[in-house]
Amino acid sequence: MVHFPTSRGVTVRAVDGVNLQVQQGEFHGIVGESGCGKTSLARTIAGLQRPTGGSVLIDGRELNDWRGDRLAFSRHVQFIFQDPLASLSRRQTIQESLEEPLRIHGIGPASERRRRVAQLLQLVSLPEACLDRLPRALSGGQRQRVAIARALALDPRILICDEPLSALDVSIRAQILNLFADLQKKLDLSIVLIAHDLAIVRLVCTRVSVMYLGKIVETGPAHDLFAQPRHPYTRALLDAAPSTDPKIERSRRVSLLAGDPPSPSAPPSGCRFHTRCPLVKPVCKTEEPMLRYIGDQVSVACHLA
Ligand SMILES: Nc1ncnc2c1ncn2[C@@H]1O[C@H](COP(=O)(O)OP(=O)(O)OP(=O)(O)O)[C@@H](O)[C@H]1O
Ligand SMILES: [Mg+2]
Repeated sequence: MVHFPTSRGVTVRAVDGVNLQVQQGEFHGIVGESGCGKTSLARTIAGLQRPTGGSVLIDGRELNDWRGDRLAFSRHVQFIFQDPLASLSRRQTIQESLEEPLRIHGIGPASERRRRVAQLLQLVSLPEACLDRLPRALSGGQRQRVAIARALALDPRILICDEPLSALDVSIRAQILNLFADLQKKLDLSIVLIAHDLAIVRLVCTRVSVMYLGKIVETGPAHDLFAQPRHPYTRALLDAAPSTDPKIERSRRVSLLAGDPPSPSAPPSGCRFHTRCPLVKPVCKTEEPMLRYIGDQVSVACHLA
Protein backbone atom coordinates (compact mmCIF):
# COMPACT_ATOMS: atom_id res chain seq x y z
CA MET A 1 0.00 0.00 0.00
CA VAL A 2 1.33 3.43 -0.94
CA HIS A 3 -0.76 6.43 0.06
CA PHE A 4 0.50 9.97 -0.48
CA PRO A 5 -0.92 12.66 1.78
CA THR A 6 -1.18 15.98 -0.08
CA SER A 7 -1.24 19.58 1.11
CA ARG A 8 -4.96 19.85 0.34
CA GLY A 9 -5.72 17.22 2.95
CA VAL A 10 -6.65 14.55 0.44
CA THR A 11 -4.85 11.25 0.21
CA VAL A 12 -3.71 9.86 -3.12
CA ARG A 13 -4.17 6.10 -2.93
CA ALA A 14 -1.47 5.33 -5.49
CA VAL A 15 -1.14 1.65 -4.59
CA ASP A 16 -4.12 0.31 -2.71
CA GLY A 17 -4.04 -3.29 -1.62
CA VAL A 18 -1.77 -4.95 -4.16
CA ASN A 19 -0.44 -8.46 -3.68
CA LEU A 20 2.18 -9.23 -6.29
CA GLN A 21 4.31 -12.37 -6.41
CA VAL A 22 7.33 -12.64 -8.64
CA GLN A 23 8.97 -16.05 -9.03
CA GLN A 24 12.66 -16.64 -9.57
CA GLY A 25 13.49 -16.30 -13.26
CA GLU A 26 10.13 -14.76 -14.12
CA PHE A 27 9.80 -11.89 -16.59
CA HIS A 28 6.83 -10.05 -15.14
CA GLY A 29 5.17 -7.18 -17.01
CA ILE A 30 3.08 -4.52 -15.30
CA VAL A 31 0.78 -2.48 -17.51
CA GLY A 32 -1.92 0.12 -17.01
CA GLU A 33 -2.74 3.71 -17.88
CA SER A 34 -0.75 6.68 -16.69
CA GLY A 35 -1.27 7.37 -12.98
CA CYS A 36 -2.50 3.89 -12.04
CA GLY A 37 0.38 3.40 -9.60
CA LYS A 38 2.97 1.43 -11.56
CA THR A 39 5.95 3.56 -10.57
CA SER A 40 4.82 3.76 -6.94
CA LEU A 41 4.56 -0.02 -6.83
CA ALA A 42 7.92 -0.50 -8.56
CA ARG A 43 9.71 1.93 -6.24
CA THR A 44 8.21 0.13 -3.28
CA ILE A 45 9.39 -3.28 -4.45
CA ALA A 46 12.86 -1.82 -4.98
CA GLY A 47 12.94 -0.31 -1.49
CA LEU A 48 13.07 3.26 -2.84
CA GLN A 49 9.66 4.02 -1.39
CA ARG A 50 8.42 2.97 2.03
CA PRO A 51 4.99 1.34 1.84
CA THR A 52 2.36 3.02 4.02
CA GLY A 53 1.03 -0.45 4.71
CA GLY A 54 2.11 -3.97 3.94
CA SER A 55 5.56 -5.28 3.21
CA VAL A 56 7.97 -6.48 0.58
CA LEU A 57 9.36 -9.96 1.15
CA ILE A 58 12.32 -11.46 -0.59
CA ASP A 59 12.77 -15.16 0.07
CA GLY A 60 10.39 -14.62 2.98
CA ARG A 61 12.53 -11.89 4.58
CA GLU A 62 11.21 -8.38 4.85
CA LEU A 63 12.97 -5.73 2.79
CA ASN A 64 12.39 -2.84 5.18
CA ASP A 65 13.21 -4.82 8.26
CA TRP A 66 16.70 -5.69 7.26
CA ARG A 67 18.22 -3.00 9.51
CA GLY A 68 21.98 -3.49 9.90
CA ASP A 69 22.06 -5.71 6.87
CA ARG A 70 20.25 -3.17 4.69
CA LEU A 71 23.27 -2.55 2.48
CA ALA A 72 24.02 -6.23 2.02
CA PHE A 73 20.39 -6.84 1.20
CA SER A 74 19.88 -3.90 -1.16
CA ARG A 75 22.14 -5.56 -3.69
CA HIS A 76 19.51 -8.18 -4.41
CA VAL A 77 17.01 -5.70 -5.85
CA GLN A 78 18.07 -3.17 -8.45
CA PHE A 79 16.10 -0.47 -10.21
CA ILE A 80 16.44 0.61 -13.84
CA PHE A 81 15.11 4.11 -14.48
CA GLN A 82 13.47 5.42 -17.61
CA ASP A 83 16.27 7.94 -17.98
CA PRO A 84 19.65 6.22 -17.60
CA LEU A 85 21.20 9.52 -16.52
CA ALA A 86 19.14 9.22 -13.34
CA SER A 87 21.38 6.39 -12.14
CA LEU A 88 24.69 7.65 -13.55
CA SER A 89 26.66 10.56 -12.26
CA ARG A 90 27.43 13.07 -14.99
CA ARG A 91 30.95 13.57 -13.68
CA GLN A 92 31.94 9.92 -13.34
CA THR A 93 33.52 7.98 -16.15
CA ILE A 94 31.84 4.72 -17.07
CA GLN A 95 34.71 2.87 -15.36
CA GLU A 96 34.03 4.77 -12.13
CA SER A 97 30.27 4.28 -12.39
CA LEU A 98 30.63 0.54 -12.81
CA GLU A 99 33.22 0.18 -10.07
CA GLU A 100 31.38 2.26 -7.51
CA PRO A 101 28.87 -0.37 -6.33
CA LEU A 102 31.73 -2.88 -6.06
CA ARG A 103 33.75 -0.48 -3.90
CA ILE A 104 30.77 0.40 -1.71
CA HIS A 105 30.20 -3.29 -1.04
CA GLY A 106 33.86 -3.87 -0.29
CA ILE A 107 34.59 -6.03 -3.29
CA GLY A 108 38.24 -5.91 -4.19
CA PRO A 109 41.19 -5.69 -4.67
CA ALA A 110 41.27 -3.26 -7.60
CA SER A 111 42.36 -5.99 -10.01
CA GLU A 112 39.27 -8.04 -9.17
CA ARG A 113 37.03 -5.01 -9.62
CA ARG A 114 38.55 -4.34 -13.03
CA ARG A 115 37.94 -7.94 -14.02
CA ARG A 116 34.33 -7.65 -12.93
CA VAL A 117 33.88 -4.40 -14.86
CA ALA A 118 35.24 -6.06 -18.01
CA GLN A 119 32.77 -8.91 -17.50
CA LEU A 120 29.90 -6.47 -17.07
CA LEU A 121 30.77 -4.67 -20.29
CA GLN A 122 30.70 -7.97 -22.10
CA LEU A 123 27.40 -8.89 -20.55
CA VAL A 124 25.75 -5.76 -21.97
CA SER A 125 27.79 -5.71 -25.21
CA LEU A 126 29.65 -2.46 -24.75
CA PRO A 127 33.18 -1.86 -26.08
CA GLU A 128 36.02 -1.29 -23.61
CA ALA A 129 36.58 2.05 -25.29
CA CYS A 130 33.55 3.34 -23.34
CA LEU A 131 35.30 3.02 -20.01
CA ASP A 132 37.05 6.36 -19.84
CA ARG A 133 34.15 8.35 -21.27
CA LEU A 134 31.51 10.35 -19.45
CA PRO A 135 27.84 9.40 -19.81
CA ARG A 136 27.06 12.36 -22.05
CA ALA A 137 29.62 11.14 -24.59
CA LEU A 138 27.55 7.98 -25.13
CA SER A 139 24.35 7.44 -27.07
CA GLY A 140 21.07 6.93 -25.21
CA GLY A 141 21.18 3.21 -25.86
CA GLN A 142 24.75 2.91 -24.65
CA ARG A 143 23.88 4.84 -21.51
CA GLN A 144 21.02 2.48 -20.77
CA ARG A 145 23.45 -0.43 -21.26
CA VAL A 146 25.79 1.15 -18.72
CA ALA A 147 22.91 1.63 -16.27
CA ILE A 148 21.99 -2.04 -16.72
CA ALA A 149 25.61 -3.14 -16.26
CA ARG A 150 25.84 -1.09 -13.07
CA ALA A 151 22.61 -2.62 -11.78
CA LEU A 152 24.04 -6.09 -12.46
CA ALA A 153 27.39 -5.39 -10.80
CA LEU A 154 26.42 -7.09 -7.54
CA ASP A 155 24.55 -10.05 -9.03
CA PRO A 156 21.04 -9.00 -8.04
CA ARG A 157 18.15 -11.46 -7.87
CA ILE A 158 15.61 -9.07 -9.29
CA LEU A 159 15.68 -6.09 -11.64
CA ILE A 160 12.83 -3.59 -11.53
CA CYS A 161 12.65 -1.68 -14.81
CA ASP A 162 10.36 1.35 -14.96
CA GLU A 163 9.65 2.14 -18.62
CA PRO A 164 13.30 1.46 -19.48
CA LEU A 165 12.76 1.97 -23.21
CA SER A 166 10.57 5.04 -23.38
CA ALA A 167 13.39 7.59 -23.26
CA LEU A 168 15.23 5.77 -26.04
CA ASP A 169 15.15 6.22 -29.76
CA VAL A 170 12.54 3.92 -31.32
CA SER A 171 15.21 2.32 -33.51
CA ILE A 172 17.18 0.94 -30.56
CA ARG A 173 14.34 -0.13 -28.29
CA ALA A 174 14.30 -3.65 -29.71
CA GLN A 175 18.03 -4.05 -28.98
CA ILE A 176 17.65 -3.10 -25.36
CA LEU A 177 14.56 -5.27 -25.02
CA ASN A 178 16.52 -8.22 -26.44
CA LEU A 179 19.29 -7.47 -23.99
CA PHE A 180 16.84 -7.78 -21.09
CA ALA A 181 15.55 -11.06 -22.49
CA ASP A 182 19.11 -12.40 -22.89
CA LEU A 183 20.18 -11.37 -19.42
CA GLN A 184 17.07 -12.85 -17.87
CA LYS A 185 17.89 -16.24 -19.38
CA LYS A 186 21.63 -16.12 -18.90
CA LEU A 187 21.50 -15.04 -15.26
CA ASP A 188 18.17 -16.60 -14.22
CA LEU A 189 17.14 -13.13 -13.10
CA SER A 190 13.65 -12.10 -12.15
CA ILE A 191 12.68 -8.99 -14.08
CA VAL A 192 9.71 -6.72 -13.44
CA LEU A 193 9.10 -4.64 -16.54
CA ILE A 194 6.79 -1.66 -16.43
CA ALA A 195 5.66 -0.58 -19.84
CA HIS A 196 2.95 1.51 -21.42
CA ASP A 197 3.38 -0.38 -24.62
CA LEU A 198 1.61 -3.73 -24.55
CA ALA A 199 3.53 -4.88 -27.62
CA ILE A 200 6.76 -4.71 -25.62
CA VAL A 201 5.34 -6.73 -22.76
CA ARG A 202 3.96 -9.27 -25.19
CA LEU A 203 7.37 -9.82 -26.75
CA VAL A 204 9.28 -10.72 -23.62
CA CYS A 205 7.15 -11.21 -20.54
CA THR A 206 6.17 -14.60 -19.20
CA ARG A 207 3.61 -13.17 -16.82
CA VAL A 208 1.58 -9.96 -16.87
CA SER A 209 -0.28 -7.98 -14.22
CA VAL A 210 -2.73 -5.26 -15.21
CA MET A 211 -3.20 -2.31 -12.86
CA TYR A 212 -6.13 0.06 -12.64
CA LEU A 213 -6.32 2.91 -10.12
CA GLY A 214 -3.92 1.41 -7.61
CA LYS A 215 -5.10 -2.19 -7.87
CA ILE A 216 -4.20 -5.26 -9.83
CA VAL A 217 -7.30 -6.25 -11.78
CA GLU A 218 -5.89 -9.24 -13.64
CA THR A 219 -2.74 -11.32 -13.56
CA GLY A 220 -1.80 -14.37 -15.56
CA PRO A 221 0.64 -16.02 -17.95
CA ALA A 222 1.38 -13.60 -20.80
CA HIS A 223 0.28 -15.84 -23.68
CA ASP A 224 -2.98 -16.55 -21.91
CA LEU A 225 -3.72 -12.95 -20.97
CA PHE A 226 -3.19 -11.70 -24.51
CA ALA A 227 -5.13 -14.56 -26.10
CA GLN A 228 -8.00 -14.48 -23.65
CA PRO A 229 -8.20 -11.34 -21.53
CA ARG A 230 -10.75 -11.90 -18.72
CA HIS A 231 -11.14 -8.42 -17.22
CA PRO A 232 -13.06 -5.82 -19.28
CA TYR A 233 -10.26 -3.35 -18.55
CA THR A 234 -7.61 -5.71 -19.90
CA ARG A 235 -9.76 -6.17 -22.98
CA ALA A 236 -10.13 -2.43 -23.41
CA LEU A 237 -6.38 -1.92 -23.03
CA LEU A 238 -5.68 -4.53 -25.68
CA ASP A 239 -8.29 -2.96 -27.96
CA ALA A 240 -6.79 0.45 -27.44
CA ALA A 241 -3.27 -0.70 -28.34
CA PRO A 242 -2.15 0.87 -31.62
CA SER A 243 -2.67 -1.22 -34.71
CA THR A 244 -0.56 -1.19 -37.84
CA ASP A 245 -3.72 -1.04 -39.93
CA PRO A 246 -4.69 2.65 -40.34
CA LYS A 247 -8.40 1.83 -40.83
CA ILE A 248 -8.58 -0.11 -37.60
CA GLU A 249 -6.48 2.60 -36.00
CA ARG A 250 -9.06 5.29 -36.91
CA SER A 251 -12.07 3.33 -35.71
CA ARG A 252 -10.32 2.72 -32.40
CA ARG A 253 -10.49 6.43 -31.61
CA VAL A 254 -13.98 5.74 -30.31
CA SER A 255 -12.53 3.14 -28.02
CA LEU A 256 -13.87 1.92 -24.72
CA LEU A 257 -11.18 3.78 -22.90
CA ALA A 258 -12.44 7.22 -23.81
CA GLY A 259 -11.83 9.74 -21.06
CA ASP A 260 -9.37 9.72 -18.21
CA PRO A 261 -9.45 7.33 -15.28
CA PRO A 262 -11.04 8.74 -12.11
CA SER A 263 -8.75 10.29 -9.50
CA PRO A 264 -6.89 7.91 -7.20
CA SER A 265 -7.70 10.25 -4.31
CA ALA A 266 -11.42 9.52 -4.72
CA PRO A 267 -11.73 6.13 -6.42
CA PRO A 268 -15.26 5.03 -7.42
CA SER A 269 -17.22 2.79 -5.07
CA GLY A 270 -17.46 -0.94 -5.74
CA CYS A 271 -15.38 -1.90 -8.73
CA ARG A 272 -13.09 1.00 -9.55
CA PHE A 273 -13.55 0.38 -13.26
CA HIS A 274 -17.36 0.52 -13.15
CA THR A 275 -17.55 4.14 -14.38
CA ARG A 276 -15.94 3.12 -17.67
CA CYS A 277 -16.92 -0.52 -17.97
CA PRO A 278 -19.12 -1.49 -20.94
CA LEU A 279 -20.51 -4.48 -19.03
CA VAL A 280 -21.33 -2.70 -15.77
CA LYS A 281 -24.06 -4.30 -13.58
CA PRO A 282 -25.64 -2.90 -10.39
CA VAL A 283 -23.45 -5.07 -8.14
CA CYS A 284 -20.32 -3.49 -9.67
CA LYS A 285 -21.28 -0.09 -8.22
CA THR A 286 -21.62 -1.31 -4.67
CA GLU A 287 -19.41 -4.32 -4.12
CA GLU A 288 -15.71 -4.37 -4.65
CA PRO A 289 -14.60 -7.49 -6.54
CA MET A 290 -11.60 -9.24 -4.97
CA LEU A 291 -8.77 -10.56 -7.07
CA ARG A 292 -9.68 -14.23 -7.19
CA TYR A 293 -7.98 -17.25 -8.66
CA ILE A 294 -9.92 -18.74 -11.53
CA GLY A 295 -7.49 -21.50 -12.54
CA ASP A 296 -4.58 -21.87 -14.96
CA GLN A 297 -2.55 -19.38 -12.90
CA VAL A 298 -4.98 -16.61 -13.76
CA SER A 299 -6.54 -14.27 -11.19
CA VAL A 300 -9.18 -11.66 -12.00
CA ALA A 301 -10.98 -9.00 -9.98
CA CYS A 302 -14.34 -8.83 -11.76
CA HIS A 303 -17.83 -9.88 -10.69
CA LEU A 304 -18.56 -11.07 -14.20
CA ALA A 305 -15.41 -13.07 -14.92
N1 LIG B 1 5.28 11.75 -4.34
C1 LIG B 1 3.99 11.80 -4.63
N2 LIG B 1 3.14 12.62 -3.94
C2 LIG B 1 1.83 12.69 -4.21
N3 LIG B 1 1.23 11.96 -5.19
C3 LIG B 1 2.01 11.15 -5.92
C4 LIG B 1 3.42 11.02 -5.69
N4 LIG B 1 3.94 10.12 -6.57
C5 LIG B 1 2.89 9.71 -7.31
N5 LIG B 1 1.74 10.32 -6.94
C6 LIG B 1 0.39 10.08 -7.48
O1 LIG B 1 0.13 8.70 -7.34
C7 LIG B 1 -0.60 8.22 -8.47
C8 LIG B 1 0.18 7.08 -9.09
O2 LIG B 1 1.39 7.58 -9.65
P1 LIG B 1 2.48 6.67 -10.34
O3 LIG B 1 3.60 7.56 -10.75
O4 LIG B 1 2.79 5.53 -9.46
O5 LIG B 1 1.69 6.15 -11.63
P2 LIG B 1 2.23 5.45 -12.95
O6 LIG B 1 1.30 4.32 -13.23
O7 LIG B 1 3.67 5.15 -12.83
O8 LIG B 1 2.00 6.57 -14.07
P3 LIG B 1 2.85 6.82 -15.42
O9 LIG B 1 2.40 5.75 -16.38
O10 LIG B 1 2.39 8.17 -15.86
O11 LIG B 1 4.30 6.75 -15.10
C9 LIG B 1 -0.79 9.41 -9.39
O12 LIG B 1 -2.06 9.95 -9.15
C10 LIG B 1 0.30 10.36 -8.96
O13 LIG B 1 -0.10 11.69 -9.22
MG1 LIG C 1 5.37 5.71 -13.90
